[in-house]
Amino acid sequence: MSEQLPPQGVRLDSGEFTGIDPRIFTTSPARSPQIPTAPRARAGGTVEMTIDGTPVTVPGDFTILEACRAQGVDIPTLCTLSTLTPEGVCRMCVVDTGSRALTPSCSARVGQGMTVWTDNERVRHSRKLVLELLASSVDVDLAGPELPDGSIARYMAEYGADPARFGPPSAPAPAGARDAAEAGHHSAPDGSVAERVAQPVKVDNPLFVRDYAKCILCYKCVEACGSDAQNTFAISVAGRGFAARVSTEFDVGLAESACVFCGNCINVCPTGALMFRSEYELRQAGEWRDEDQSVTRTICPYCGVGCTLELHVQDNRIVKVLSPLDAQVTSGNLCVKGRFGFDFVQVRAKGSDREA
Ligand code: SF4
Ligand code: SF4
Ligand code: FES
Repeated sequence: MSEQLPPQGVRLDSGEFTGIDPRIFTTSPARSPQIPTAPRARAGGTVEMTIDGTPVTVPGDFTILEACRAQGVDIPTLCTLSTLTPEGVCRMCVVDTGSRALTPSCSARVGQGMTVWTDNERVRHSRKLVLELLASSVDVDLAGPELPDGSIARYMAEYGADPARFGPPSAPAPAGARDAAEAGHHSAPDGSVAERVAQPVKVDNPLFVRDYAKCILCYKCVEACGSDAQNTFAISVAGRGFAARVSTEFDVGLAESACVFCGNCINVCPTGALMFRSEYELRQAGEWRDEDQSVTRTICPYCGVGCTLELHVQDNRIVKVLSPLDAQVTSGNLCVKGRFGFDFVQVRAKGSDREA
């Protein structure tokens, strides 16, 4: 091969060298004349089924959750979101379809003749236990189905969940201990305390913090960072069983990882485990006041894509930037500039008498 390469200084496309067809290197392959199209819609038609004893007709491509919600039936969820592929991991949304195991309604499709019970004893018992296991091991004070708004408390009350019955909480793990756990290496708990995922907050960059003591392992951040939106794959779930945790590769800091600081993971985190540094610091100082904040929708000023921003403002300062999931252009996803590049707004010209 080497004698086929051009002498130094001779360009492949100069015409002076004929050893290799220069088009191999200088011409893009012809594009397919076929215009890419969106994947075909799922099978259409309708199915007849029964929800809580009521016969209904629903589109055949609905999930059980969509079918129930279309009938006004409230089903609690934690790990599902309209913009993400359902992972079916939290098991809050289970319903009874008469099969041996309860069915996660967020990820199972409706079927012809299906019978669904959304609130019988079996379902309520399962949801209660899920809530108790979560709340005994994770700080779920801020958790909600879609946003960290604390609305999980409503489910706790509704299902009579009592996480304290597993005993007093275990001591928090020292920094790095949970990240060092190896898959398959377990030590038996002594049963006197409720095991927790508590550990110090990871503050390794100026933009956002990761407080995995609040992580319910819903996978939403992993999906948003991966193939559902960002395709960066900076984070994934490492470890097994109780040692499972969201991690960068080899647990390196975010700045050393593949992370591009788009913050799309924060936008989907339902527990506050991923949080703007500005929000985290205000909460630490006891100065975070939801009730005093305004939320303004506007368009990102940085480029022509035109992403929709939701500016959360407290005391005349932008404290958090989210993006609505129903934004047509980006479905709630932003880049680092739209998400975090707002400090300039607070800078006033020298001599300005306007409040900073
Ligand atoms: S900020 Fe973006 S790139 Fe970084 S972990 Fe979150 S989703 Fe992935
Ligand atoms: S960090 Fe948030 S979004 Fe990610 S798995 Fe944990 S709770 Fe879910
Ligand atoms: S919402 Fe269905 S399994 Fe989590």
